[in-house]
Amino acid sequence: MPARLLHDFERFKRELPRDAAGYIRETYGVNLTARYLGYPLPHPIGKGSGQLSLRLDQLEADRAAGLAFVVLKTVIGEDAAGERSMGAWAVHESRMRVEQRPSREGKTGWTVTWKGRGWDRSFEEYLALVRTGRDITRAGGMVVVPSAKLHLPRLDEGFRDREYRHTIGGIAKAWGSAPLPIEKDFSPTLAGDSLAGERAQILRWLREVPGRIRDAVDVPVRLALKLMNATFDDAFQLEMIEAASAADTLVCFNRLWDADAAVAYGGYDLSDRNLRVLASRPRRRDGPAYAGTGNIGSGRMLLEYARLGCEAAQLHTFFQLPLGEYPAVAGSRTQRALHALLFDPADGLVAGMLQLETEGLLERRGGELHFLDVTTMRGATNPA
Ligand SMILES: Cc1cc2nc3c(=O)[nH]c(=O)nc-3n(C[C@H](O)[C@H](O)[C@H](O)COP(=O)(O)O)c2cc1C
Repeated sequence: MPARLLHDFERFKRELPRDAAGYIRETYGVNLTARYLGYPLPHPIGKGSGQLSLRLDQLEADRAAGLAFVVLKTVIGEDAAGERSMGAWAVHESRMRVEQRPSREGKTGWTVTWKGRGWDRSFEEYLALVRTGRDITRAGGMVVVPSAKLHLPRLDEGFRDREYRHTIGGIAKAWGSAPLPIEKDFSPTLAGDSLAGERAQILRWLREVPGRIRDAVDVPVRLALKLMNATFDDAFQLEMIEAASAADTLVCFNRLWDADAAVAYGGYDLSDRNLRVLASRPRRRDGPAYAGTGNIGSGRMLLEYARLGCEAAQLHTFFQLPLGEYPAVAGSRTQRALHALLFDPADGLVAGMLQLETEGLLERRGGELHFLDVTTMRGATNPA
């Protein structure tokens, strides 16, 4: 098997097979079927919301590359009069710096330094992108999910429901069928803002936002909450998970906040923290599903998140590396990234799944190894 994998890794450097997950299933008996927000996916690799899901051509390239899903850039909510309570997040900034960042433990990973925030064009333009995403999703090419940031009140304030109704209502109308999939972003810049300075305030948002979003429209909503890394300790991250239990899916966790440089960052500090918190959470049968995000740059790292219950992965930074960092020599960045994530003979998803089998941690069912079995396999984490 390793010789086969090495051969495939080499020959796919020029071009990935059109249906890579189907090829992997046939060739290696590895079934990568995954799940995000209730959608079955051919494999777990998707794109997190951000600067790489702003435009139609980006969506097209990702669909053609064979990405499983894409979360659109986060739109900043507004009411019918165009008023935005989170208007400070609609910042225009195009310059991104992709750079290496050593972690506190001395491991060097990649991070993107960028001062921008949410969607900076009109709501109408966002809705046009949602309609395109809807069409791609319906055609079965790739799942596309909108993302929004909406009013978050201080403890003594009420929620601005009109902003929720107008924004979620507009997106639901553009989506045009039920259920409406949507992700609600709690971003690192929010974590660093005085708004998020109080624990009770954050916990209230996480408890109440799901109901506010569901009540804003008369169609069923499939809701993901993308949780921030608050500036508090790990125990508080667990409290946040508990408070957010009315969501369908939790995306854990958005980037860290560097208060000195006033920028969000990733790399190994991010994955170390995310994995540590996910490992210490109580595992429940009936709670939300999980998706992982943060410094996923190999199949092995993706499997670390999967072992802690994540049924899909949202990557951003790994799709932005200098071209020379990918082993593939042709294709879009998404294709090159998928090639490494899936086929790398040492660190790819196929290699990692086969190793779990060799270690006796994962067993074949119906002749196949199943990615989703990794999320519940024994020894994965501490069951409640
Ligand atoms: C430049 C940039 C912009 C981002 N913008 C958003 C955003 O608008 N909404 C959001 O939910 N996450 C946003 N993210 C977070 C990513 O989706 C992702 O969750 C995070 O970067 C961790 O994954 P990574 O380590 O693979 O980059 C952004 C990340 C980057 C690097």
